Amino acid sequence: MVNLALKGGKPVRTKPFPKWPIFDERELEALKKVLESGIWGIRGRFQKEFEEKFASYQHAKFGVSVINGSAALEVSLRALEVGCGDEVIIPAYTFMATAISVLYVNAIPIFADIDPERYTIDPKSVESLISDKTKVILPVHISGRPADMDALLSIAKKYDLYILEDACQAWGSEWKGRRVGAIGNIGAFSFQSSKNITSGEGGMIVTNDEDLYLKAWSLHNCGRSPKGPWYKHDLPGGNYRMTEFQAAILLVQLERFDEQTERRMANAQYLDEKLSKIDGIRPLESDERVTRNSYHLYIFRYDSEAFGGISKAEFAEAMQAEGIPVSVGYSKPLYKELYMNYFKKCPLSCPYYGKSVDYSKVKLPVTEKACYNEGLWLPQNVLLGSREDMDDIIVAFEKMQENIDELKE
Ligand SMILES: Cc1ncc(COP(=O)(O)O)c(C=O)c1O
Repeated sequence: MVNLALKGGKPVRTKPFPKWPIFDERELEALKKVLESGIWGIRGRFQKEFEEKFASYQHAKFGVSVINGSAALEVSLRALEVGCGDEVIIPAYTFMATAISVLYVNAIPIFADIDPERYTIDPKSVESLISDKTKVILPVHISGRPADMDALLSIAKKYDLYILEDACQAWGSEWKGRRVGAIGNIGAFSFQSSKNITSGEGGMIVTNDEDLYLKAWSLHNCGRSPKGPWYKHDLPGGNYRMTEFQAAILLVQLERFDEQTERRMANAQYLDEKLSKIDGIRPLESDERVTRNSYHLYIFRYDSEAFGGISKAEFAEAMQAEGIPVSVGYSKPLYKELYMNYFKKCPLSCPYYGKSVDYSKVKLPVTEKACYNEGLWLPQNVLLGSREDMDDIIVAFEKMQENIDELKE
C-alpha cells in the first residue's frame, strides 16, 4: 500500500487554504467612489490620503505612490543620483527586480552573501565588497524579515554610503520597534497581487528626507514639482503614477492589515515551534531585534540528507500533492541568471565604470545552498488559516518523513 499522495495515496488535505486576495463591500464602495468622482488618475484625494497613511504607518515622514515595487526601487535609485559607474551592494537571494532596478539606472549590482540563519544580507559580506565605486547598500527585508539594520547603518556611516531598503515584502515589519523603509535613507514597497496589501499592482517610496522626497516625487511625475506648473519639468522624470483606483483599494486593505499580520505571526510562531522538532526541517532563526515580521513568506530550511537525499524540488512536489502549497522559491542566485548577459556592454563594462564585472566568477556559498538545496517556502495566505490548518501542515511533514522511501523507489 502506498501512503504518499504523489504515489497515489490519500492526501493529507484537499481543503484549500484561505484564498488571496481578500476583499468585501468596502473595496467595492471605494471603487464606486472613485468612478463617481470623475478623478481616476493624476493626483487625486485617495492617492494623497494613502501616501500619508502608509508613510506614517511605516514611521516615515513622506510617501510617493507609484505603479509598482520595481518602479519604487528604480525611482529611489534615481533620487539618490545613482548612475553610470556606481556600485550598489545587493543580495542575490531576492526577486530579480532588486538587481534589474540597479541595472536600469546603469549602475552595477555587486552581490553579497546572506546570513545562513536568517537569509537576509550578511553585513560582513557587504563590508568585504565595498570599493571606491560603492554608493548604496540595498538590503532586502526578505519574506518580511528585516535585515540587520544596526550593522548596515554602521557600515553605511563608516563608508559614507546610502541605504535603500527593498521593503517590497515587508509592510509593517519592525526592527527594534521601528518600521522598515525609512530606517535607511529611502525605501521601496510593492502592492502586487501576491503581496499582503494589494491592489493588483502598485508601489510606494518612503523617506524621512525632504530633499529625497521632492526628487522622488518629481521623478515619478514627469519631472514636475508638487506646486509647480503642469508643463514645467525640472528633472528627467517618467510617468510612474499610481491610479486613484489602486489607492482607494489600498486604503481599505490597510484597514485589515494589522489583524491579518497578527494572525500570520501567531501561526508562523506555531509552525516554528512544531517544525523545529522535525528532523531535517529548520525554520529560520528568530531574532529579538525583529519586533514585527509581515511574513510575506514562511521560509524554512530543508536538509535532504534527513529525507533520504530527495531534492528540495521533489520534496516540494510531494508536499503539494498532500495539499500543502510548498514551493522551491528562488532556485537560482541572481548572478547566475542569463538575462544578466543583456547588460554585458553597458553598464557592466561601461567606460565610465573603469572596470568590468564577471558574474561567472561570483560564488556565494550560503546563497547557493539556499537556492539549490535548502530554502523552501509557504505563501502568506496559508498563514491566514486556522490552527487546524497549521496542524495539517505539520502532519504532512511528519507523513513525508515516515514515508520518504516511497519517493526513492
Ligand atoms: C523583494 C522584491 N523586490 C522587488 C519587487 C518588485 O515589486 P513589483 O512586482 O511590484 O514590481 C518584488 C515583488 O515581487 C519583491 O518581492
